[in-house]
Amino acid sequence: MTEATGATGPLSPTYYFLDAARAGRAELSRFRTDRGRIGDVGAARADFPALHQRINGRPLVWFDNAATTQKPRAVLDAMTRFYERDNSNVHRGAHTLAARATDAYEDARASVARLLGASSPDEIVFVRGTTEGVNLLAATLGRSRVGTGDEIVLTTLEHHANIVPWQMLAQSVGARLRPVPVDDTGQVQLDGYAALLSDRTKIVALSHVSNALGTVLPIAAMIAMAKARGIPVVVDGAQAVAHLPVDVTALGADFYVFSGHKIFGPTGIGAVYGRRELLAALPPWQGGGSMIRDVTFEHTSYSDPPARFEAGTPSVGDAVGLGAAIRYVLGLGMAAIAAREDRLARLLTDVLSDIPRIRIIGTAAHKVAVASFVVEGMRTEEVGRALDRCGFAVRSGHHCAQPALRRFGVESTVRASLAFYNTDEEVHAFGAALRDLTRLVRR
Ligand code: ALA
Repeated sequence: MTEATGATGPLSPTYYFLDAARAGRAELSRFRTDRGRIGDVGAARADFPALHQRINGRPLVWFDNAATTQKPRAVLDAMTRFYERDNSNVHRGAHTLAARATDAYEDARASVARLLGASSPDEIVFVRGTTEGVNLLAATLGRSRVGTGDEIVLTTLEHHANIVPWQMLAQSVGARLRPVPVDDTGQVQLDGYAALLSDRTKIVALSHVSNALGTVLPIAAMIAMAKARGIPVVVDGAQAVAHLPVDVTALGADFYVFSGHKIFGPTGIGAVYGRRELLAALPPWQGGGSMIRDVTFEHTSYSDPPARFEAGTPSVGDAVGLGAAIRYVLGLGMAAIAAREDRLARLLTDVLSDIPRIRIIGTAAHKVAVASFVVEGMRTEEVGRALDRCGFAVRSGHHCAQPALRRFGVESTVRASLAFYNTDEEVHAFGAALRDLTRLVRR
């Protein structure tokens, strides 16, 4: 089968049944008719079935949003509807369900473009998640740019997903990683960053928000500093997209990667944004169907992005779920979500700071609603288990960010990570439970 041609000549690698302009218009009208609940973000908690259950006889308090978020009914319904009515492979087959599935898949791509402020859906590549996105970039951008003696600058705060793929690349070509130091609050030191940028720097890889500490990095300034030297910047946005408005065009980011399940969508789907001309210059990554123009046993020519990077059958149902999640949060308004979470973050810090024997790790002025802490005299797993007995879901461990925690002399913390659907009452109840726990330790 010739995958990129049809009776009327070459077909767009992106849209078989829907052109980009139509997709954009469909998106716009959907947002206009979205529920007008901006300013009433907290009430949206009712849309999340999983939040309304009891754990160990107590109401569930989901404070593990940095690990994954719960899903609104809109996402569950969109995925059920897709599998009940529209399920088909995409980009091939001239039948009705193939057309519907392709439209739904490309509609989801347009939603991602809109969420990130990309200039076109063609700048969005679907991947399984942030980890796969960074691996894709290390294998394409990295392999084309980084050689012996070169350097990749990243920060001490990175998740392992934004360290290990670059380290594997560096080790294979004889390059090295240069981590930007952080201060005692958990914020990156911009002068330390400036000092690391040099002619040897071939890529800068940054978290937008630290998963372990919640620090919001000054990425606009950091991107500008890299770009002044012509260095491409990859941003790991896994912990940012659900909490802050993101505009890759205004930020000047070259690449921005995130996972759908961190923004109320399903697992197994995420996206890489890449500036059009940079994506176009990258070599393919995985080979297979859908990413080719023409194949002979002697030679293969490749599709344009994004199809060039989407070999094989994509996770269509998950993309549909992600599209629904994005429409849902944009309907609430990212600015309204950020404002509510900012208030929750301040309350969480105030409540925890008041409890003796708790040490908060990461106290930067600009943070999302994440509190990483240790309780004097208790192992972090014990704290996590004790909290679970009271209905609180938190994460205990190294959070896949060992260098970040070791900077503060710890191997493990308890992490409470909030989303817009959490409440003041939950934060106060959390404080009361921790206070009781620390009293027990004292005896
Ligand atoms: N990266 C996820 C976390 O921080 C799994 O918990």
